[in-house]
Amino acid sequence: MSEPLLQVDGITKRFGGLTAVDDVGFSLEPGTITALIGPNGAGKSTLFHCVSGFIRPDGGTVRFNGRGVSRRSAHGRAQLGMVRTFQIPTAFNRLTVFENVELAARDQPADRLVGALVPGLGRLRRSAIRTRTNDLLETFGLADKADDLAGELSGGQRKLLEFARVLMTEPQLLLLDEPLAGVNPALGERLFAHVNRLRSDHGMTFLFVEHDIRTVMDHSDRVLVMAQGALIADGDPETVRRDPAVVEAYLGGGE
Ligand SMILES: Nc1ncnc2c1ncn2[C@@H]1O[C@H](COP(=O)(O)OP(=O)(O)OP(=O)(O)O)[C@@H](O)[C@H]1O
Ligand SMILES: [Mg+2]
Repeated sequence: MSEPLLQVDGITKRFGGLTAVDDVGFSLEPGTITALIGPNGAGKSTLFHCVSGFIRPDGGTVRFNGRGVSRRSAHGRAQLGMVRTFQIPTAFNRLTVFENVELAARDQPADRLVGALVPGLGRLRRSAIRTRTNDLLETFGLADKADDLAGELSGGQRKLLEFARVLMTEPQLLLLDEPLAGVNPALGERLFAHVNRLRSDHGMTFLFVEHDIRTVMDHSDRVLVMAQGALIADGDPETVRRDPAVVEAYLGGGE
């Protein structure tokens, strides 16, 4: 087996007396699409925060591409190719939709280097970025909103914008926190078709949080289940769906 792209061990995060994430470990193989499910409050977003570096866990380690990243900032992890989206999107409201996506490409190490060394190449790269921005806006049904301010988008459109922004950074691993919440089903299908293409064409790896079980069954190779901070199941979608512990977690969790 190849080396895992992501290796998470013993992640624990407490908020006062509450253990939101309780000794969670798992690994992701390159080129896979994994769903992370669990009742509300199970600790999914908190786990995402810990893995992506937005909060510091009380314990545990994260390795990405064979190197320890536990002490790196979220920004540092993103530069290595591990990027996440938020359950509540974080676009720049006072920039246009186009600018939001275009800007996301700016901070790439390759971009800074090319711009500094070869101005002509920098221009070429900028035009490639514009083309890519337009392609992504087209894919996510945002082309006719390109010149609108991001702050004027609907909730679902903001999700799509967030997705387009992270793809601009050409990550190896993408962590998506409820990418479809508020997005209409037809567009959701398009989004996952795009995810599949990125996996097959570029070997990209995905971990996504999703509440809709149909979406999970249709689009993931593997499902991780969290309940009350702990990982309680890990397997292929069919097996996990039939797992009594998973059924119990959902019934007991009040969803
Ligand atoms: N900053 C915080 N301070 C205190 N408690 C928090 C904080 N963030 C999360 N929690 C608590 O940690 C637990 C896990 O929350 P988390 O947001 O990770 O759940 P989730 O699985 O993402 O839920 P959902 O499906 O509703 O998004 C919850 O009980 C929540 O109230
Ligand atoms: Mg959440």
